[in-house]
Amino acid sequence: MATLEVMNLNLEELVDVKENNILNINYCLLDILLKDRTTGKNIIWATDMYETKGSSYSSSSQITIDQITGRNGQIIKPRTKKSKQEQEKRIKVKAEVFTPSWVCNEQNNLADNSWFESENVFNKSNGTSWSTNKNKITFPEDKTWNDYINSLRLEISCGEAPYLVSRYDTTTGETIPIVDRIGLLDRKLRVVNENTHDKNDWYENVVKSYKSIYGFEWQGDSLLIARENLLYTFIDYYIARFKEKPSIDELKEIANIISWNIFQMDGLKFVIPNSCKNDVEINYTLFGEEKIENECLGCKKNNDKLHNGIYVKIMNWNTNKQMKFLSLFSKKK
Ligand SMILES: C[S@@+](CC[C@H](N)C(=O)[O-])C[C@H]1O[C@@H](n2cnc3c(N)ncnc32)[C@H](O)[C@@H]1O
Repeated sequence: MATLEVMNLNLEELVDVKENNILNINYCLLDILLKDRTTGKNIIWATDMYETKGSSYSSSSQITIDQITGRNGQIIKPRTKKSKQEQEKRIKVKAEVFTPSWVCNEQNNLADNSWFESENVFNKSNGTSWSTNKNKITFPEDKTWNDYINSLRLEISCGEAPYLVSRYDTTTGETIPIVDRIGLLDRKLRVVNENTHDKNDWYENVVKSYKSIYGFEWQGDSLLIARENLLYTFIDYYIARFKEKPSIDELKEIANIISWNIFQMDGLKFVIPNSCKNDVEINYTLFGEEKIENECLGCKKNNDKLHNGIYVKIMNWNTNKQMKFLSLFSKKK
């Protein structure tokens, strides 16, 4: 296994992961993080915020490594580092308002209250903060820790994915130590830490945890940040546990899962953003051709099943088969 030679993790990197550093770790890693598993191409910008940088930064263009590394290495910034003007435009265009960590925590606690049928399992919320339960997590009689790490979770419209991982508060940029993290994946990783003894066992269960966590987002820059946050969460927990860096092969395996599970989608249509097109019908008349543009039927009728755009595919890791995200909603007979 190749070992990881370059990893300049500093405090700043907790909040704003540098694409140049990912590239220094390994070119393939950034390549994987930019992949769109549905189209086989790269994720697209899906925002016009970068169009002034050139036509290749248009909303429908793919995000490429060259566009975000080298001297362009500062282009992708988390919301807290964007200018006020940019932040306001993103609120107007895509309702981009992020949720403070303490609210994510309270909502994640509600999900766990229901799963455990018990309250304050991971922490006790306390106004705009929380106090972490330092004892080993115990499980209900009819459920095991394996059930917990395998239970599926999805953050809809995930932005930078604050409900899944919590390296920093996406509203203030304040960093959060590993022991106090509150994301849905953080909780699974804590459970893995508490129940595994050797590295193989730990890693195998961490892989299962990543496979059970999903999220989707419209805007390509936020989606990439969400993916980076999940990858760097793996690095954080690995270093904390083993006092050494993960191997390139391990990083690639985790990045591959992330590139499937954290995906770009219009959550109202279940297709790649802006992929629905007007169908052009040509009528030949005595006076020549007449072009008639018909709006996508799904968009026109607001019917999920009739879009002519590209329906997003996700991976079912139990069967290792791809499936349309839309099929999750089809009624079982
Ligand atoms: C209110 S923010 C929430 C982000 C994150 N979940 C949080 O709580 O901080 C809403 C997010 O939804 C995304 N969004 C807006 N319309 C969307 C759509 N139709 N499909 C998917 N994501 C969408 C925006 O880009 C934005 O990141």
